[in-house]
Amino acid sequence: MLISKNDSVKDLENKVIAFLYPTYEGELININEQNFTIVNDTVLKEISSKYYKKNKWILNMEEKIMKVPLSSPDITQKEIDSVVNVLKTRHLSIGPKIIEFEKALSDYIGVSHAVGVNSGTSALHIMIKYLGITKGDEVITSPFSFIASSNAILFESGTPVFVDINPDTLNIDEDKIEEKITEKTKALIIVDIFGHPLDWDKILKISEKYNLPIIEDSCEALGAEYKGQKVGRFGVGGAFAFYPNKQITTGEGGIIVTDDDDLCDYARSLRNQGRSPSDSWLDHTRLGYNYRLNEMSAALGIVQMERIEEILNKRSAIAEKYNNRIKGIDGVEPLKVADYVTRMSWFVYIIKLAKDLDRDDILKKLNDLGVQSKPYFPPIHLQPFYRERFGYKEGDFPITEAISKRTIAIPFFNNISDDQIKYVCNLIQTTIKKYR
Ligand SMILES: Cc1ncc(COP(=O)(O)O)c(C=O)c1O
Repeated sequence: MLISKNDSVKDLENKVIAFLYPTYEGELININEQNFTIVNDTVLKEISSKYYKKNKWILNMEEKIMKVPLSSPDITQKEIDSVVNVLKTRHLSIGPKIIEFEKALSDYIGVSHAVGVNSGTSALHIMIKYLGITKGDEVITSPFSFIASSNAILFESGTPVFVDINPDTLNIDEDKIEEKITEKTKALIIVDIFGHPLDWDKILKISEKYNLPIIEDSCEALGAEYKGQKVGRFGVGGAFAFYPNKQITTGEGGIIVTDDDDLCDYARSLRNQGRSPSDSWLDHTRLGYNYRLNEMSAALGIVQMERIEEILNKRSAIAEKYNNRIKGIDGVEPLKVADYVTRMSWFVYIIKLAKDLDRDDILKKLNDLGVQSKPYFPPIHLQPFYRERFGYKEGDFPITEAISKRTIAIPFFNNISDDQIKYVCNLIQTTIKKYR
């Protein structure tokens, strides 16, 4: 990088930070002094007094580092007004907003029912109970997911049976499911990971052949489409989640979408302490939970759903910008999107590092320099309590483990700026260069 006479102080400062990345060892960097002689005197004086001491550039890290969070919700004044308006009413729970939110979701997905709950995990738990999963039952699922998709099986003492993943889509490998089906298999929990749909034709064939119900975990995939059909409606029921890092948020929240009238009734009862529609407040037909979604959350969700197209389009545009930059960086690959995907719903932006790179070290460097990044996902079967309970060990699901060692989620949210994207990608590039 050359420093030129025409550089403004700002240009120069940007270049100085660029020097910092490859040599980052603390806050001191050396710069070839000859370069400074061509810098215009005033600029040199100004920048020198700030950063050049004892023959070295001294950067104030706090001042220079751009802080880029991993995710950030996209809340406009309309969402704020909508929540505040609820607070001015008497109905903070079990009111009109949840009904409106559920209608928005069922219309959007194209199903007859949506039942709002307080998390994606609760949505999955209710469906596991609905299918009657109990001790000794096996449920096939993916080891490469957020832990809740598998934990929901454990809540009812079922046994998760993992199937390794497809290294391109990072979804469960559709062609390996049949090998794991036994007499004890009672259901499939199928996860549209990172907003990338599975090859649903294949999954549906297996489900029909073995008469196995599917719970679709679409918690990360609101709006994603497989061959023109929205995900969430391929199984008995689908779950969506609305934690603040999701495509839309309700703060905390989730929803079950379904065409099954019985599942809908059961979910409405289970989320509300086991009450039936005819029960009074202190009557309880069955064992239930408090899995209700409150009215403020639903009011937030309604406005987010009004903006769903805008939100998904923003996310696609950002993913496109990342793809273009990431493709040019040696040692990093963007995620592949399969041909059958008619709409990817970008949940996070994941990069895959080349095998020779030290993922954890790179993660540390990125986080140290303000780019919040996380290892998405550590394999579920290697979590301590899964190892302990089921005896899993490294090597059990080699593709999941190999992918998991190489994947990083980098900052991704609706309002990330072009400058932030550039900063993140430059930092990845210069950090990796050090290892090559
Ligand atoms: C695949 C998957 N399943 C389930 C969940 C659980 O959702 P929640 O955090 O709302 O309980 C999540 C949330 O991150 C998820 O990503």
